[in-house]
Amino acid sequence: MDRTAFSGVLAALKLHAGTQAPQDLRVAFALDPSRFDRFSLRLDDMLVDWSKTAVDARAMDLLAGLARAAGLEARRDAMFAGEPINSTEGRAVLHVALRAPEGASFSVAGQDVMGEVHAVLARMADFANRIRSGEAKGVTGRPITDVINIGIGGSDLGPVMATAALAPFHDGPRVHFVSNIDGAHIADVLKPLDPAATLVVIASKTFTTVETMTNAQTARRWIEGALGPDAVGAHFCAVSTALDKVSDFGIASDRVFGFWDWVGGRYSLWSAIGLPIMLAIGPARFRAFLDGAHALDEHFRTAPLLENLPVVLGLLGFWHRVAMGYPARAVIPYDQRLARLPAYLQQLDMESNGKSATIDGQPVPTPTGPLVWGEPGTNGQHAFFQLLHQGSDVIPVEFIAAALGHEPDLRHQHELLLANCLAQSEALMKGRTLEEASTQMLAKGMAREEVDRIAPHRVFSGNRPSITILHRQLDPFALGRLIALYEHRVFVEAQLFGINAFDQWGVELGKELATGLLPVVEGKRDAAGSDASTAGLVDYLRGFA
Ligand code: F6P
Repeated sequence: MDRTAFSGVLAALKLHAGTQAPQDLRVAFALDPSRFDRFSLRLDDMLVDWSKTAVDARAMDLLAGLARAAGLEARRDAMFAGEPINSTEGRAVLHVALRAPEGASFSVAGQDVMGEVHAVLARMADFANRIRSGEAKGVTGRPITDVINIGIGGSDLGPVMATAALAPFHDGPRVHFVSNIDGAHIADVLKPLDPAATLVVIASKTFTTVETMTNAQTARRWIEGALGPDAVGAHFCAVSTALDKVSDFGIASDRVFGFWDWVGGRYSLWSAIGLPIMLAIGPARFRAFLDGAHALDEHFRTAPLLENLPVVLGLLGFWHRVAMGYPARAVIPYDQRLARLPAYLQQLDMESNGKSATIDGQPVPTPTGPLVWGEPGTNGQHAFFQLLHQGSDVIPVEFIAAALGHEPDLRHQHELLLANCLAQSEALMKGRTLEEASTQMLAKGMAREEVDRIAPHRVFSGNRPSITILHRQLDPFALGRLIALYEHRVFVEAQLFGINAFDQWGVELGKELATGLLPVVEGKRDAAGSDASTAGLVDYLRGFA
């Protein structure tokens, strides 16, 4: 990053944001009938509309200037070239290789990785086919009807989100997910299942994560208790980079699917971590999912900055966070099957960009990643949209919707869904003045005095920004493309912040302290050394032990 050039452009951007950029979206639309055409882009059937954000052509140019000063294109090329851009862990970052087709070439430290990538995919496909067809059976000879994926963070959120998203394409065993160390999670998942017809996938990059290892032991006891100690081989498989640790668990090597240290946990659903998705939808559709991501990779790699969707989204993210000072962004899929997308994006975005040190170890001079949150629409409308419309903070919203649902008989419901999606972005922008609120109430016959009392509560400031992402239909290709869009957007924002998006040291301290506190909670050691609050809380809990 050229800090001096970056600071100069950033100062110009902030000045522009506060003075010349559209101060009111309603006026911007009134003045420029071509605003939608100028501030929206299509990639095949996907449309991204950011005309309801307060940018103009000059703001976009300044943002592109920032990207150049940040060395975005060189950093992107370094990522695709397999250079160790994850500098604090000394690792390459090559999730793009995982979705590349046959014939593509990606190398890490001079070694082409594509042979291994496709070999693992082929082994996964073979295994998935054998489970799905019933050829690979449980120890009693029963076919596998249910799969439990045990993993957490990147070894859970991607598969759980994608599996739910692709429900119309499920034609394999039912897939369940256990992540939380809270025994309630695995207890509730195991309860209705028959061990004789269940396959457990242990998914952990490191194969040391306490939640996953503890739940794996619980599942093992469940299988062994019902089917005997020899059942583990037929009822378990594993996905990990730590092959030695997997073999210690007793899983045969033909049921272990590896990946590599150049795949970050939150970028790993394209690797063997995607096995539960493949089990649910089959290898061909899983390939379509990878192809969708690859199409976006090619777009990101080759399109000019301001015609490049993840770049534009990243620039807008920076605009909102740094130029406008908005602390959060909401992601609202108008798609019930994307219910877990906000949670998935929370890890992707907040674990990547929730940092305070630059790549060089200096304090980041700007705010970094925003709080990312959301729920599907229309449900959110009946919950937290009140705050989005009338709260004291402006929170940019990202709406996601598909033109077509998967329920032709329920077309009317899909149209209602879409009308609501469009109405919310319109309402956020348009708002309602005091005069409009009063006129509306008077027209309904309300007394003047009552109108004056209530009207201020019915005012919407409006001028609240949103971005809308539309696609034809949520299928495997479209989902892969959408996730890759967000992955690269997070990368773009990280370059503008000047941070390493690919480490996650911030999760370590809590893990270390939990290890130290376990014997205290168990009553094996007193709370000496803990602060008074922690000691008091332990005392309370021990009172019930
Ligand atoms: O605690 C954070 C984290 O390290 C994530 O980055 C990762 O996705 C998750 O834990 C799970 O790690 P693993 O796959 O090694 O079990």
